[in-house]
Amino acid sequence: MITKYSAKISGTGKYTPDKIVNNYDLEKMVNTTDEWIRTRTGMFERHFVADDQAASDLAYEAALQALEAANIRAKDLGMIIVATISNDHAFPSTACILQKKLGVKDFPAFDLSAGCTGWIYAANIAKQYIENGVAEHILIIGVEILSQLINWEDRGTCVLFGDGAGATVISRAEPKDISRFIDTEISADGTHYDLLIQPAGGSRMPASKESIEKNLHTIYMEGNKIFKHAVRSMYDVCETVLKRNHMDVRSIDWLITHQANLRIIESLGKKLKIDDEKVIVNIEKYANTSSATIPIALDESIRSGKIRHGDVILAASFGAGLTSGSLLFRL
Ligand code: UT7
Repeated sequence: MITKYSAKISGTGKYTPDKIVNNYDLEKMVNTTDEWIRTRTGMFERHFVADDQAASDLAYEAALQALEAANIRAKDLGMIIVATISNDHAFPSTACILQKKLGVKDFPAFDLSAGCTGWIYAANIAKQYIENGVAEHILIIGVEILSQLINWEDRGTCVLFGDGAGATVISRAEPKDISRFIDTEISADGTHYDLLIQPAGGSRMPASKESIEKNLHTIYMEGNKIFKHAVRSMYDVCETVLKRNHMDVRSIDWLITHQANLRIIESLGKKLKIDDEKVIVNIEKYANTSSATIPIALDESIRSGKIRHGDVILAASFGAGLTSGSLLFRL
């Protein structure tokens, strides 16, 4: 591919629903304790949607903030990519619904299914379209309503997830800009597709009375197996982009990983030998919002002044598929 331009992040936004459910609330709902959840995962609160909210509603609120931060209007966009496993509908895409909500049309809009790695996959795709000159501004969103997919009879998974949206505008960088994408790597190991899955509702197992009775439209996860894959795969994709660019962790100002478990984040940090203060963690406030964790953490860190223009950031994720990916960029 001929690279004509560079891509950069020009704006971010986030939206989390008003309703907050903390570990003590969960103690009243399932056989669990605040102590178990905190020590095993680092989570304390998570946000849950109201009955009338769907993924595109959350995505829309986050998108408005990101467009404003990027100082562009929706009509300036050349593409919308929504990374989600909890779309408004199986079809059409949530991206097309969001396009309507934003009052724009006549450019591509599509959803992307890469589980928790969705935002990084979307950034990787956006980078190609910006670099080859096809688009000038692309809106990418990680949005999930996992509260709708929780199996309340499985205490091993029901305490882990939350709802939220993180939006990011990827734009063409001017030659004088210091902000730019440095590199990105995405991968998948489909041999483990069944470790994290929503078994029913697709063509393999269409909705039936039985599938509903057996809770097969909810999240099934083999947590222990995923845990091991998570650290190894995130380490690999981080090492790949660092080595390819002759960089090491000393050149990184911030590491933002998928927020699935504090122990996973800490294990990766240790393996990469990065200072603890450089690792962004907000899992205690939002739990695991899948594709939304990284863009939410990024937006929050920028707006609080923690991450600044010019900082070098390494983002890494893993998720259903099993997918993994990293994005190295200067803000
Ligand atoms: O983002 C997508 C990818 N997903 C992930 O990254 C998840 C990765 N995995 C994990 O984060 C961890 O494996 C979990 C947090 C899911 C589970 O932690 P764990 O340390 O692997 O616990 P475990 O599943 O081995 O269970 C340990 C014990 C069991 O009891 P016994 O058999 O030792 O008596 C469970 O029954 O903890 C028990 N347990 C609970 N106890 C209280 C499991 N869930 C709960 C709970 N409250 N909610």
